[in-house]
Amino acid sequence: SGEFTVQESGWVSLVGAVRGFFSRLTGEGWAQRGPEIPRARGSLAAVGGQAFFLPLYELFLTYGGIFRLIFGPKTFLIVSDPAIAKHILRDNSKAYSKGILAEILDFVMGKGLIPADGEIWRVRRRAIVPALHQKYVAAMISLFSEASYRLCGKLDKAASDGEDVEMESLFSRLTLDVIGKAVFNYDFDSLTYDNGIVEAVYVVLREAEMRSTSPIPTWEIPIWKDISPRQRKVNEALQLINDTLDNLIAICKRMVEQEDLQFHEEYMNEQDPSILHFLLASGDDVSSKQLRDDLMTLLIAGHETSAAVLTWTFYLLSKEPEVMAKLQEEVDRVLGDRMPTIDDMKKLIYTTRVINESLRLYPQPPVLIRRSMEDDVLGGYPIGKGEDIFISVWNLHRCPKSWTDADKFKPERWPLDGPNPNEINQNFSYLPFGGGPRKCVGDMFATFENVVATAMLVRRFDFQLAPGAPPVEMTTGATIHTTEGLNMTVTRRRRQPIIPKLERKIVSDSQSTCFDQSE
Ligand code: HEM
Repeated sequence: SGEFTVQESGWVSLVGAVRGFFSRLTGEGWAQRGPEIPRARGSLAAVGGQAFFLPLYELFLTYGGIFRLIFGPKTFLIVSDPAIAKHILRDNSKAYSKGILAEILDFVMGKGLIPADGEIWRVRRRAIVPALHQKYVAAMISLFSEASYRLCGKLDKAASDGEDVEMESLFSRLTLDVIGKAVFNYDFDSLTYDNGIVEAVYVVLREAEMRSTSPIPTWEIPIWKDISPRQRKVNEALQLINDTLDNLIAICKRMVEQEDLQFHEEYMNEQDPSILHFLLASGDDVSSKQLRDDLMTLLIAGHETSAAVLTWTFYLLSKEPEVMAKLQEEVDRVLGDRMPTIDDMKKLIYTTRVINESLRLYPQPPVLIRRSMEDDVLGGYPIGKGEDIFISVWNLHRCPKSWTDADKFKPERWPLDGPNPNEINQNFSYLPFGGGPRKCVGDMFATFENVVATAMLVRRFDFQLAPGAPPVEMTTGATIHTTEGLNMTVTRRRRQPIIPKLERKIVSDSQSTCFDQSE
């Protein structure tokens, strides 16, 4: 037929397709009375091989803010309209679950906060959100600075040796080191070493990404799933991570038992400010499996997203020298040679706008996934229970009607004296951290982490795309990756600030050499 059917393998998850097929036969879903949602027609021949959200953008321009994509036996609703996104995410959020996402992530996150729905989600969200209080986030600034400083050390060496660097993998290591300490007080130290646990985290992450883009769920095939070398490797990696987490939970429990504990709203243990410590000290009554699921969820949620934001921010900066110059001017003026503090976060406004704008052009993740749990009406169209929905944040953020020069990197579009842009003040046409009850719990943490890392790197170095490196193209897993890395030439800035030796705060002994690097 001439209908837009997707034959290409691997560009979007088919995991739910087979499962959904039989429910379609029973008539659940889109066989509703009333006006019919436009069905996308066309051919994918012209767009094969691209990141999956790119063809969805072309279809959005043709079919509008809501259309149906027919995908083998399965159909998806693609939403790119701010009012419909607001309805699903906020106004009628109770009618929507995480659907396919929960199925894909079950092996790694179980009933953690991202995939969980219903009562489990409500209880866990209520337990976890208070752990990210203001005092905790402020304490994290020194953790961000110290990890960024370690990265500076690596870049310094590359600059001296005249070697290009692959920044995407370095950002991934930076944010892994940060999130390990921040969530369960574990020092992966992946910027320095490639040990077993770091490797295990990457095996599991790659598996989650493979599952979200694979056309056939081989990991569900009986017998194969037990004998496939890949699955065995994944299971071993999961086992190692689970054992490590169990161990960290046990250590933390002992610490809490020995503490002269006075729990209050902004409780924080100075030696171990981690979220795990807060949860245990709060008397959070939870099974160790649930606690592990939550820690794993926070680890993955906070790791890949921030790494992707930094990767695309530095890519964008390399393309816009004027933005880079303004950014460096602000960072030099505000920070000079000091390490950043929480007070600087209010002053590094242009730096924050650079991150805001990077998140507009490269939202992480580029689509939000939901499934309708009851009948509803979207944009005037009735829909049934069981619809799988992709809210394309990519489309919302690049809609030519919402944004002038939608594809241009222009941090100036957000006035320096205006509010920090978010989904509320942009009326759901900008959703960097989602919206409604399932909005990201780490938005402030992540913004400060990105601001600190960006500021510390650009005050010391200039970054150019490495000459002769392959073009930087996009591919998708859970977040937007480059196809072949972000290869950059890093040079020390001529006005090279000197970072003084500082008193260490909070972070563990294993990082005590952090400030001993010679400048
Ligand atoms: C949820 C983005 C960093 C923890 C979300 C959502 C988005 C998002 C868009 C909503 C997902 C949905 O509605 O389906 C980001 C970005 C980050 C970031 C762009 C970095 C720049 C973090 C960090 C943490 C975190 C650092 C933890 C410390 C979570 C959790 C949820 C979530 C637990 C699920 C909340 C719920 O369902 O109740 N994030 N995030 N994120 N994020 Fe983040």
